[in-house]
This record gives sequence, structure tokens and C-alpha cells, in this order.
Amino acid sequence: MAGAAQHAHWSSRWAFIMAAVGSAVGLGNIWKFPYEAGEGGGGAFVMVYLLFVFFIGTPMLVAELSLGRRGQLSPIGSMKKIAQDEKKSHWWSLIGWSGVVGAFIVISFYSVVGGWTLAYMAKAAMGTFSGIDAETAQNTFVGYISDPVKTLVSHFAFMAITIFIVAKGVQGGLEKAVTVLMPALFAILIILVIYSGFTGDFAKTIDFLFNPDFDKLLFKPNTAEAIAAGEPATRFSLDTVLQALGQSFFSLSLALGSIMTYGSYLTKDVKIGKSAVTIAAADSAVALMAGLAIFPIVFAYGLDVAGGGGLVFMSLPIAFGQMPFGIVFGTLFFGLLAVAAVTSSISLLEPPVSYVEEKTGWNRRKVAVTMGVAAGLLGVLSAYSQGTNLLSDIKINMLGLELDIMGVKDFLTNNIMMPLGGMFTALFVGWFVTRKNMMDELALSDKTFRIWYFLVRFVSPTAIGIIFGKIIFDNFIA
Ligand code: PFF
Repeated sequence: MAGAAQHAHWSSRWAFIMAAVGSAVGLGNIWKFPYEAGEGGGGAFVMVYLLFVFFIGTPMLVAELSLGRRGQLSPIGSMKKIAQDEKKSHWWSLIGWSGVVGAFIVISFYSVVGGWTLAYMAKAAMGTFSGIDAETAQNTFVGYISDPVKTLVSHFAFMAITIFIVAKGVQGGLEKAVTVLMPALFAILIILVIYSGFTGDFAKTIDFLFNPDFDKLLFKPNTAEAIAAGEPATRFSLDTVLQALGQSFFSLSLALGSIMTYGSYLTKDVKIGKSAVTIAAADSAVALMAGLAIFPIVFAYGLDVAGGGGLVFMSLPIAFGQMPFGIVFGTLFFGLLAVAAVTSSISLLEPPVSYVEEKTGWNRRKVAVTMGVAAGLLGVLSAYSQGTNLLSDIKINMLGLELDIMGVKDFLTNNIMMPLGGMFTALFVGWFVTRKNMMDELALSDKTFRIWYFLVRFVSPTAIGIIFGKIIFDNFIA
């Protein structure tokens, strides 16, 4: 691909949809969603998550795709240009900055977990899981993430694959990687859901994922001191709701400039509204299927639903170790999880790359390598913060949570930068871009446009503002 990134375009609508679904479907769906749902109490978390996906996330997808397509530049360049066209403050380009910097932070830890999937693919292929029980599965995982050499190698191997594809450009790299592999991932997930359904505790899973208990979502246990001071045992808290909001953004690849960058490779004939609904539907379907594949095993083996980031790595190997052709299915599953992670990580490297490319005029390969290696180095801190690895003793307190380095990066991006970035994007398209320009860009039917406009003007900023405001109030004012 010659020239700057903004001149490249998808070869077809199908290629774009696959790339965007590839970006959306990733570790967020299969690794993160199940453990967040587990920690957030199950059904109520799933329900608010889905509400956020459809009423806030999908309209935001439309907004970001249209901003990218209109700007035809990196997120920073596009925001600057559109603000200028609309005669609005150049400060709006901060939305682009937050996206590019956020994407850089996220890819630095995303590639660590991506590395875990590669390592687990190798373990599955070597038959490591044959006949293992829950305890061995747990020890295997903790042993692996605590190993400074193995985690470093897998992290950089994953980053190298990402760099390789990004360096090849949109049609040569991105498209080729996604169009075959996404459908394959879908197929293997279906097989796993069926297997888990027959062998694990499916009834309990359905109850857990779909029977909402709002008390669990909205009330947190109070601290021992507060209870001693005469306060009730639980207190009202929107922390988990914020987590669900952040997760809906993360899962749809919003507010990190990825979707905006992919929008910049769009041609004018693609229908953004329809595409956004397809992307959101596919993304949610995969998240729910991941839950349906994982929780039957978690319940059948008495694992902890709130087991955190190791959940998928500690639960599924038990199933693979017992099922017929487990070596094949296990290798396929972790292989495809790695693929899902790669198609997302390329979209995370893309915003910083497109910006630096635009700014420096360097060729794409040089930029991809520079940014990828830099993010990889920052990622070493995350890799070493896990298990009993070299930096695992470092804990940082954020809003009352004791977090390791990976947790801090996740918290900053997922719970702060992404919701705020989303809120300002909604305010920008809803209140600062001329209505007529928005209508022309989107080419929606009148009715659909009105619904979309209402959602981005009022619903998104208000919902995000309330959730965010309440957290700030609880932690800094009350
Ligand atoms: N959506 C991806 C996932 O769910 O794994 C992660 C992601 C990719 C988040 C790109 C944000 C982003 F910009």
C-alpha cells in the first residue's frame, strides 16, 4: 500500500464488516466478559451490559464510523479537521488524542493476554490438559503467568504477529486475516456451547446469566469499619454499572480510536447504520456464547465464578482434558481465541500507527514496528504484574481497589478514558456538528435518524454523566 493510511480503503462492505467484527470480537468477549459477569453477579450485569450495547454503544459506533469516514485521517487528524470545518474549538481533537493514547495503553496489556492464548494453544496441542482436574488447571495457569521468561516470549510473539499484519496495510494484511478466521471462530464456539451444555451444569448457567438479581449489581458489602460505625452491611454503589458500561465500550472497540480509524477506510457507499447493528449483534452473540460455553464447566467443577482474569484459562482446559478429541478442540479453541485477539489487537495498533504515519510521513512498516515495539515494552510491566511474577508485589490503590499494574491500565482506560471519551464524542456529534451535515453523512431514514439523534444527544451523555458523577461524588465528595 503506497502513501498515507488515510488513502487506503476497504475492498468491499463485507471486508469492512469482517474487520470491524474482528476488532469488536476478541478477548473482551471470551476472556473478559465472562469473568466480569461472574464478578458482577451474573444476570443483572448481563442485562445492563446489553442495554448499554444497544442504546449507547450502537449509536456510538455510528457516530465514530461517521466521524472517521468524514475526516479520512487518523482519529486526531479527523477530529481536528471536522472541528475546523464546523468552526468549533480545536480542543475537540482531545477526543482523538484520548483514543490514540488509550489504544496504546490497552494494546500494551492486551498483547500480554494475547500471549497467554498462544501459550495455551501450544499447551493444548501438546496434550498438557489430558485428564487434568480443577486444581491442576489452576496451578498450571498460575505457574505459567508467574514465569518471567515464558510470559515475555509469548507476549512479544503475539506483538510480532500484530506488527506484521499492521505493517502490511489494510487490504494486504487486515482484510486477509479477518475474512476466513472470524467465521471459523463462530463455528468452534457453537461446538463448545453444545459440549458444555451436555456435560456441564447448563441449568445453573442459564439461571446465573439470565436471572437478574439487582441487589448484587447495585449493592456492595460495606467495610468493616463502616459496619462497626453503625452503617448497614451493604451500601448502594454504581461501580459495577460503570464496569458494565466500560465493558460495553471495550467490547465494541469504542472510544479508543479503532472504529474511527476503520471508518476512515470506508467508502461513501457503505451504510453505516446497518453495519453498526450487524457489528453489535455479532459481538453480543459471541460474548453470550462464551458465557454459555464457560459457566457450565465452572459450575460443574465448583470453580469460583468471580475468579478474575484466569477464568477461561482455568475452566476450559478441564473440559478439553476430558472430551473426545480434546486435543484437537483445545488447540482449535485457543488458536481461534488467539486469532480473535489478533484481529482486535491490529485495530488497537492502527490508531497510533495512523497518527504517527500522518505526522511523520514515515513508511507504514517503520511506524508499525516502532509503535508495536514501544507498546510491547510498556506491556512487559503488565506481564510481570501477574501471578507471582517479578512485579506482582506492586499494588496501587484506585478508588478503594487494590490493583496490580495490569489492573491499573485496565481501570484507567475501561473505567475512565473510555466512558469520558464516549461522552464527549456523543456531545460533539449531538450538539456541535451541524445536524444537516450529520444527516448527509449517515444517510439514514428520517425516523432512524431521529432515534439515533435522540440517543446521542440526550441518552448517552446523561447516562454516562450520571454514572460517572455518582462515582466521583462517592469517592471524592461524600
Ligand atoms: N473489542 C476488543 C475486544 O472485545 O476484545 C478489544 C478492543 C479492540 C477494544 C479495539 C478497543 C479497541 F479500540
